[in-house]
Amino acid sequence: MASPTRSPGRGPRVWLGPTRKTEGRAVSPRRHRTRRLCGPAAGADTGHVRQVLCPVLVGRDEETGHLQAALAAAQAGQGGTVLLTGEAGIGKSRLVRELARAAGADGFTVLTGRAVAGGVPTPFRPFAEALVSAGRAERLPVSAELDPFRPALGRLVPEWRQPQAAAGDESLVYLGEAVLRLLRVLSPDTGCLLVLEDLHWADRETLALLEYLADNLSAERVLCAGTLRDEEGGEAAVLAAALEARGSAAVLPLARLDPAAMARMAAACVGAAQLPDTIQSFVAGQAEGIPFLVEEVLAALIGEGALTERDGSWHAADLVTAAVPATFADAVRRRLDAVDADSRQVLGAAAVLGRRFDWALLSPVTGMADAAVVAALRRGVGLQLVATDRESFRFRHALTHEAVLAALLPPERALLAGRALAAVEAAHPGVPGAWCMLAADLAERAGDAARAGALLLEAGRRDLAVGALASAEHTLARAQAVIGPDNAALRTPVDEALTEVFAMSGQVDRAIEMGRTLLARLGPGLPDARAANLHLGIARAAIAGAQWAEAAASIEVARGSPGADAAQVDACAAQVAIGQGRLAEADRLARAALRAAEDGGPPEVVCEALEVIGRVARQRDLEEAERAFARSAAVASAHGLQLWHLRALHELGTIDQLRTESVDRLEQARELAVAQGALALTAALDLQISAGLNKQFRADEALAAARRSADASRRFHLAVLPMALIFQATAHAIRGEREAMEARIADAISLAPADQDVLGCAWGHCRATFSLLAGDLGEAHAQMATGAELMLSSPAAIAPPFLGLWPLLGALLDRDAAEGAARVRAARGTRHLVVAALLGYADAILAGRQGRPADADAAFAAAEAQMGPLMAWYRHYARRLAAEAALADGWGEPAPWLREAAAYFAARGDDRVAAACRGLLRRAGAPVPRQRPGDGELPGQLRALGVTEREADVLRLVAQGLGNREIAERMFLSPRTVEKHVASLLAKTGLRRAQLAGYSAGLDG
Ligand SMILES: Nc1ncnc2c1ncn2[C@@H]1O[C@H](COP(=O)(O)OP(=O)(O)OP(=O)(O)O)[C@@H](O)[C@H]1O
Ligand SMILES: [Mg+2]
Repeated sequence: MASPTRSPGRGPRVWLGPTRKTEGRAVSPRRHRTRRLCGPAAGADTGHVRQVLCPVLVGRDEETGHLQAALAAAQAGQGGTVLLTGEAGIGKSRLVRELARAAGADGFTVLTGRAVAGGVPTPFRPFAEALVSAGRAERLPVSAELDPFRPALGRLVPEWRQPQAAAGDESLVYLGEAVLRLLRVLSPDTGCLLVLEDLHWADRETLALLEYLADNLSAERVLCAGTLRDEEGGEAAVLAAALEARGSAAVLPLARLDPAAMARMAAACVGAAQLPDTIQSFVAGQAEGIPFLVEEVLAALIGEGALTERDGSWHAADLVTAAVPATFADAVRRRLDAVDADSRQVLGAAAVLGRRFDWALLSPVTGMADAAVVAALRRGVGLQLVATDRESFRFRHALTHEAVLAALLPPERALLAGRALAAVEAAHPGVPGAWCMLAADLAERAGDAARAGALLLEAGRRDLAVGALASAEHTLARAQAVIGPDNAALRTPVDEALTEVFAMSGQVDRAIEMGRTLLARLGPGLPDARAANLHLGIARAAIAGAQWAEAAASIEVARGSPGADAAQVDACAAQVAIGQGRLAEADRLARAALRAAEDGGPPEVVCEALEVIGRVARQRDLEEAERAFARSAAVASAHGLQLWHLRALHELGTIDQLRTESVDRLEQARELAVAQGALALTAALDLQISAGLNKQFRADEALAAARRSADASRRFHLAVLPMALIFQATAHAIRGEREAMEARIADAISLAPADQDVLGCAWGHCRATFSLLAGDLGEAHAQMATGAELMLSSPAAIAPPFLGLWPLLGALLDRDAAEGAARVRAARGTRHLVVAALLGYADAILAGRQGRPADADAAFAAAEAQMGPLMAWYRHYARRLAAEAALADGWGEPAPWLREAAAYFAARGDDRVAAACRGLLRRAGAPVPRQRPGDGELPGQLRALGVTEREADVLRLVAQGLGNREIAERMFLSPRTVEKHVASLLAKTGLRRAQLAGYSAGLDG
């Protein structure tokens, strides 16, 4: 990137670049471009018209420095996002233009897109424009890395759409990832600058995509630079503040120029070394520090002949009498008044077409010949109202556009809008892409509400088709407002589309309400099949939101309708039945649906039915369940039903969990779900992964997965949120963090105060785990009893391990173990293998108590055989409990069990449990192992400080000069746990780390 230089003699720091060459000259660099562009085709020549635009960048040193640094960082692979904010005309676009120039000179790929003003913004417009701006509109760059993302990119750039691509994947994460990969592919060796202009007008999808990028650019060679007016607040400003707060973007607010800078700018604008003081202060007084107004005031003075150049120096007429416009709009109106009626008509028509307009449309709109139109445009350029921009014209500024529009009388505007609508529709049949929104705006302005409503409906449906749900909602809501209550023919399809939008975006309540209202309004007039579909749509929304009664009611109505598809109705009803715990009925309905659907019905219904069948079977027979899910997966993949394929994989993963606790298949499914953008499913998978990791006592990873699940659930209003919070609480319990655990439990219960699974797990899983690790077995047992009571009184959807631990602990403590075990078995808790195994240990203890040592040994051996390798924590804990009973009752081999368990728990840092094991060994009279060969007992001095044995081990290794990572490896701990131990040592000894090493050498023992 070029470094800023001090321009000789004048002081302002400017960026090196083409503009520098023009410094000090009166003519802007646009002059040549203007001539070329308006040449032969238009038959116009605006080349001799002066455009007052400042050729050099004035001031902005600090911002320039920041942008340079950001660009350099991006080049080094540390990308980021910078947002330039400030009022209209303050110079945001100018700064990004300079940035783009510098980036281009450094070999960056520069992509630019902008949001535009208008009633309803087009979804993703700025991104679409940016991505094709590299001149690659016709086709997507070839790269294997992009292959999985082609459908997503096709949503942004219609030309890239693939005809055979399966629909389905609509998520923002997927789209964001797609854009990220594309940016990477576009800039393999250098870097990429993505400029997004005027974000205050951006649609919500664009902002969401920007948010995704901003959060994920830090390791890319990509700099994203956005501009927005922050004065009006709005969603973009809110996003900017949020991104800045979490460190995902830098926000650079642009302040007004001081008088000295304005004077430099004014002189540079006209190419003078210096302007007379009178002119300087006049301009400064008018422009009030806003660069745009500096140019405009000068343009007005020159345009009106009040400021003239003679013999290389500038003279002002009597500035006092030079009419001073009260507002910028007045200034524009006065300039318009100065031209002939035809030109005014052309400029007015142009304004009706938008800030950027297609000049070819102006002839049909005004009824004038092309030559006259071009002459009028040329006058517009001379008046500093219109500027030429590559192949097109645009109003110089958004404010200019608004002022020209405001200068038209309302009937003039309506008339021009009507003609413009006709011209647009004639020139672009079917109003593709952004023309649709423009046509809708024009129809509304022309007072044709029905036409505007129809066009908005069309635009809304297109948004829906590409999954731009927020924009679809916005557009359709506007359609509703435009159409008004009386036009039933239009209102119904708009409401139907809105119902779909609500259902798809997870706004369950609104979907249901809208569907209901619609049905009520249409009454019996609706064709049967459409009515049935509407009811099923409501039911599906309700199922997604776990609103079973609501779903059941709609399904009932659909079933009564002659137009309904019986298989679909049954499949929906089966989902509701299983959701409400009516397993037999769910099975029956699902099998009915399966029979009907297998006979040429839709494959989705086959998959849905098999899913329900498998979920019912899972309660009693894992093999049968696995067969159903595997079949569903096969059908789904044969028909390219990605979502159903994933759902089946997900179910298969849950079977693994019941058997071995492995989360591997779940993680595979999750990867697929992320790649496909199936967000709700990703959240459900994260939930299960976190459950599995908690059962393996991998608390840090479990916490991360549960957090991901909770975050997504909040965003998409998913029903799994309370459970995601409970699994966070469990992980906190494992880490010994009681307050955090209680806080998450409280969050979960406030969301689902009557959910037995949530309440049951809070007691039996979270709190009891905390008590176990703290060595309080009595308390743990009582908490598990409370949890079991809650979970066993309802048809529990899950069977957490504590249902096995509860009778096991009860057996040791002589507390109703046999009865508890029987209840767990009756509730089929043993379908979960770890629960079955734990109950086996309980049987062993009970047999020992009853003086049947051989039975005890046999039961123990059987239980051990059921415990897979991933269940190490539970196996060792069960051994620790069984050993205590075996010691008392004289069976088994308690000493070796305890020795192994002591080593296992000590290595994990579960100090209390390890100490209990060693205590039992001592009681048994067996030699108590040192924790590791060579380790000594805890020296008295350390004990006095409250240092634990585990911490003492860490201290010894610190003394040997090992780093945390090495210590973690030696002790089979996570580096995080080692960090915790070191921090605790520092706190207890009051030393710094460097001193710790010496400290241990001077200890006794
Ligand atoms: N620091 C500057 N030095 C010289 N000229 C400037 C400077 N800042 C802005 N200008 C000029 O002022 C005019 C308005 O600036 P610009 O278009 O960048 O404003 P903006 O903040 O993007 O406004 P908007 O919010 O309306 O898009 C432009 O013609 C620009 O070249
Ligand atoms: Mg701008």
